[in-house]
Amino acid sequence: MNLIVCKDYEEMSRRAAELAAACIQADPTGLVSFPGGDTPLGMVHAFADLVNAGKVDISGAHYVSLDEWVGLSGLDEGSCGRFNRTELLGRLQKRFAGVHLIDGAAADIEAERAALDSYIAQYGPLTVSVLGIGMNGHLGFNEDGVDLDLNAHIIPLSETTKQVMHKYFGEKFHPEYGISQGIRQIMAAKTVILIANGSHKAEILRRALCGEVSNRVPASVLQKHPNCYVVADEAAAAKL
Ligand code: PGA
Repeated sequence: MNLIVCKDYEEMSRRAAELAAACIQADPTGLVSFPGGDTPLGMVHAFADLVNAGKVDISGAHYVSLDEWVGLSGLDEGSCGRFNRTELLGRLQKRFAGVHLIDGAAADIEAERAALDSYIAQYGPLTVSVLGIGMNGHLGFNEDGVDLDLNAHIIPLSETTKQVMHKYFGEKFHPEYGISQGIRQIMAAKTVILIANGSHKAEILRRALCGEVSNRVPASVLQKHPNCYVVADEAAAAKL
């Protein structure tokens, strides 16, 4: 486990983007996955800047989204698909060789889950997986108690996640399920980059990195990943 402590959110975002770019430089036809949400916003912007400045060539690489709220399409506000389209893909002046975004509003969500597995099987394993950490230690929607052996799956959201999601949806939408890459696929990534910022993440980051490895804190499995970087600002790293 490589810990990189950054002075603030901006530095965390830049360092994580540079690391992700270096992974693609080393494996130009690899499969790449970024998360959605507040934490990775600066990182995906910094990554797009690197691509647009010609610092990394993504033309041979494929991209897959990490997770999605079941019930939301990529057009819906607060969806990970919309985040990917607006904050990442829409900023890129060059294209990935291929992109797969999960559609949480698919009529046949089981087929959507299978399509995610197929895409990762075809173009993977992931060369780099960037992840945030939830307040309950989730990675993607691998919620506390998740089966660590699963590939892509559909999972009930934990109470913690439902509370946090309020900031994205208010009273407009009350998702009950998430669809997510599984821990098996995340652990198969050649490089994992976990990003975290803010004092509210300090305790769960401590439990994930210094506590027992257990599905009660899914991010704790990263202690066993052979090539994992944790990029955290000083506030999130305060208890390490
Ligand atoms: P956040 O979520 O970016 O909203 O803090 C992180 C996560 O749930 O992975």
